[in-house]
Amino acid sequence: MAENQAVITALQAVLPDMQEADIASKLEAPKKHSMGDVAFPTFTLAKTLKKAPQMIASELVEKIDQSAFEKVVATGPYINFFLDKKQVTADTLKAVLAAGQNYGQNDDGKGANIALDMSSPNIAKPMSMGHLRSTVIGNALANLSAKNGYNPVKINHLGDWGTQFGKLIYAYKTWGSEAEVKADPIATLLKYYVEFHDKAKENPALDDEGRAWFKKLEDGDPEAHKLWAWFREESLKEFTEIYDRLGITFDSYNGEAFYNDKMDRVVKALEDKNLLEESQGAQIVDLSKVNENLTPAMIKRTDGATLYMTRDLAAAMYRKDTYDFAKSLYVVGGEQREHFQQLKAVLSLLDLPWADDVEHIPFGLITFNGKKMSTRKGDVVLLKDVLDDAHELALKQIEEKNPSLADKDQVAEEVGAGAVVFHDLMNDRTNNFDFKIEEVVRFEGDTGPYVQYTNARAQSILRKAGVEVDAKNITLDDAATWDIITALNAFPETVRRAFLNREPSVIAKYALGLARTFNKYYANSKILADDANKNGRLALVAAVSETLTASLSLLGVKAPKEM
Ligand code: ARG
Repeated sequence: MAENQAVITALQAVLPDMQEADIASKLEAPKKHSMGDVAFPTFTLAKTLKKAPQMIASELVEKIDQSAFEKVVATGPYINFFLDKKQVTADTLKAVLAAGQNYGQNDDGKGANIALDMSSPNIAKPMSMGHLRSTVIGNALANLSAKNGYNPVKINHLGDWGTQFGKLIYAYKTWGSEAEVKADPIATLLKYYVEFHDKAKENPALDDEGRAWFKKLEDGDPEAHKLWAWFREESLKEFTEIYDRLGITFDSYNGEAFYNDKMDRVVKALEDKNLLEESQGAQIVDLSKVNENLTPAMIKRTDGATLYMTRDLAAAMYRKDTYDFAKSLYVVGGEQREHFQQLKAVLSLLDLPWADDVEHIPFGLITFNGKKMSTRKGDVVLLKDVLDDAHELALKQIEEKNPSLADKDQVAEEVGAGAVVFHDLMNDRTNNFDFKIEEVVRFEGDTGPYVQYTNARAQSILRKAGVEVDAKNITLDDAATWDIITALNAFPETVRRAFLNREPSVIAKYALGLARTFNKYYANSKILADDANKNGRLALVAAVSETLTASLSLLGVKAPKEM
């Protein structure tokens, strides 16, 4: 739907009580082309204005300033706008080119903070494809929140606390070697952890040893703490290599361990409200009052140790204190749905007014060639391997298509990583999808490289033209141009919708659509022909490139100018 500023401006002038965003959200595409370009339904105004919608439509049409349109007519309860296409085209291109990478930026958030819990892998384990989704969806939502005027705070809630680290310390101290860990830290630590489990199957007493070491760690034993800090540091080094390749940064790496000394207030708040109950020696909160299907939240285990939930409660409170968030989003797989329902339920039992601002953003599972990945069985697909394979496949295609390209390796990295990220984000967030690298890293079809390639094509036209594009005096008014203008105009509204729905796929699909529309135009027009509209066509090409680049950048995908 062609979201159009001229229509919004005209309506706003006659409906001063309505917000721009509210007007924008009501605009529709008329059922038939002959009925106009944009329709505004008046049904929802009937109640406040106490008039029949038909009446409202015809009265408003009388008042609307028609000069910016071909015509404006009332059709029953609708106000139908026939746009002055030549004018809208010129205005749109001027607006896009003036805004550049700021095109689509709005101020809906008015600078309020959005906390995003994202990526959050577990230390001492390699980062798997399982953590790709949280990482890239989180990053795209952070970019989208900024584009909608919010201030994102990206938090990597590292899984760096829990009995498993007691087990790991025990394993390392008993049969590990410093040299071996140094040579290949994460793989070695994972190996110790797996060995621990195998041995504990024969000798369950090992579990007690592991628990004892975790207790020491919790109590601040220097040796335990030193080993833990080392494992954490080595893990972060490996994670950072991947984050760098994806171009993703964080504002905080405060993980679970950070909350070790911040849980007393959670327990105290629960006690003050009489919410803690004892159940088989453990401390729990009954949640059946909130939702009868919810199992109780475990706050303390029989041995007094705190849990994932306790740390998440402390984290939620800490984040409210520290960031005073408008929303606190948790980008975590659908398999933790119940955990976040419990978290919210406890916060609401505590009568915290911001409990409703806590939102779980779940996502579906990735399968590999139809098979589910599993860490326990060891057949885990490493994100690093996937990025390496993607790089190689991209390089191969660049060698075929553009062998003389400078910085081939750099571009292959941007295309390879971009392809993996784009594919992840293109799928509706909650859908499961299968990952086949050959389909992901292709220059044709619904892929990131296709969008990147389209942008590079636009850039190459601009290079060939070799002139400065003039955003003034544009007089294009053909149908093929109009398709592109419609798409460009839809971008600001798409940016809003993607964020409101917490759905980066809205942007990915938009970018694919714009790329397809542009490629059709490219195939059918002589863009560089020397006639009166050449400057206008170049402005169109530049505006498309600007908008494709902005879309990719929202997704965290680079837009190489040549590939
Ligand atoms: N470390 C957890 C995992 O890998 C994800 C943590 C999600 N964030 C949170 N605040 N619980 O499954």
